This record gives sequence, C-alpha cells and structure tokens, in this order.
Amino acid sequence: TKPRTLLALNWKMNKAPTEARAWARELAQGYERAPVELAVMAPFTALYGLKETLPGGVDVGAQDVSAHESGAYTGEISAAMLRDVHVTYAVVGHSERREYHGETDAVVAAKARRAQAHGLTPIVCVGEGLDVRERGEHVAYTLAQLRGSLEGVAENVVIAYEPVWAIGTGKTATADDAEELAAAIREALREPYGALADSIRVLYGGSVKPDNIASICAQPNVNGALVGGASLKVADVLAMNAAL
Ligand code: G3H
Repeated sequence: TKPRTLLALNWKMNKAPTEARAWARELAQGYERAPVELAVMAPFTALYGLKETLPGGVDVGAQDVSAHESGAYTGEISAAMLRDVHVTYAVVGHSERREYHGETDAVVAAKARRAQAHGLTPIVCVGEGLDVRERGEHVAYTLAQLRGSLEGVAENVVIAYEPVWAIGTGKTATADDAEELAAAIREALREPYGALADSIRVLYGGSVKPDNIASICAQPNVNGALVGGASLKVADVLAMNAAL
C-alpha cells in the first residue's frame, strides 16, 4: 500500500502575511478535503496567520530551519520556534539553498535532525543539475546527495527529488524520469530504514502543474509533489488537488 499522497506547495519568497491569509480564505471557499494531504511551505512571517486561516487538516511548513538549537545565531529561526506556531514540516536542502547559501549535505542533515528533535517532519530535497544529467550520472549523484543529507536522520522524513534543470524552467521530467529516481531513492532508503522505507513519501518537484501532476503522482514510487510556481494561485492548487 502506498503512503498517503502529499501535495506540498512551496511559495518560495512570495506572499506577505496579509496576502497569505487572503489566499487561505480563498482556498477555504473551494477546498474539499481530498484523499491527499495538502501542506503549504510559506515564508516564516506568514506561517502563524496562515495556519490560523487555512481550512482544518491543511498543514503548514517552513522553507528552512536552523541547524542550531538556540542562542547567538542572528537571523536564524529554530525548530522549537516553528513548532510553537504549529508548523508540521520544514523543507531542508532545497537546491536554491544549496546553490545560493552554500548548504552542504552535512548542513542539510544537521537541519533535518534538529527539525525531528522538535517534532517537525523534514522534507529533504535532492536532485541533479543539467550537466550531471547530460553525463548520465543523475542516479549516482542524487543517491550520494541523499545518503549525505540523511546522515543520522530518523525515518520521520519526506524526500523530494527535484532535478535542478526542471525547477522553474517549464521543463518537466517525464513521469518515467520521475519514477526512475523515485524507485532508486526508495531502494537506497532500505539501507538505513529497512521495511519502513515503504512508508516514506518520495515526492517529485520541478514544473509540476495541474495538467501533469496526475500522471507523475500515479507512478508506483512517487507519493506526491513539491510545487513551486503553480502553488501561488488558488485555482491551480484546487485543480491539482482535484486531479489527485
Ligand atoms: O520546491 C519546488 C520546486 O523548486 C519546483 O518549483 O514548480 O516552480 O518548478 P517549480
């Protein structure tokens, strides 16, 4: 049996708190609780008001979390602070964090462990760039990144496979490409987690839209999507929710 599908929305650096609450009110008008789980990864400032405004059962997540517990880390947000405002998930190691903020696999794993210590579920992102794909090394590259990013991380985790060349480019991996990596990731998860690997959700991300989400999420090892651009408009989100 497949784990429950997760439709995870990543707003990235979009929507002020006021806009986030308006979005949540608009969603509430058309939202019917589907068999899938819906969660919104919002900017830190929007999280509290968003959770209060969203329909019951829709979760919120942060787009990052500090690797540190508390103290002299100016500008950082801790896992405990997120938990206090009813956050469920924390995205860690998104390719934009890895690329623009120098996050290594070791840092990503430390963030994931810290999130778990406070009851958050980390969404650990992995995926290759275009050069790696063109060399045909995408499976080995992604699995190495996965192992490094899961060092010491427990099984309460979600994995997002996001090929960097498909993010925000309109180029979507085919459903077969997504399944190839999702299956390889599932196999790799057996080493640390044994049979629990079957209950860990593996998402695909990269130009997911209402018209391609169903075929991607129907793949045997794909358990949902991490959606960027198409997560901003309520109409697109309702269409994706209905398609699953
Ligand atoms: O986290 C989401 C991914 O980066 C995908 O973004 O749907 O805009 O391609 P996108």
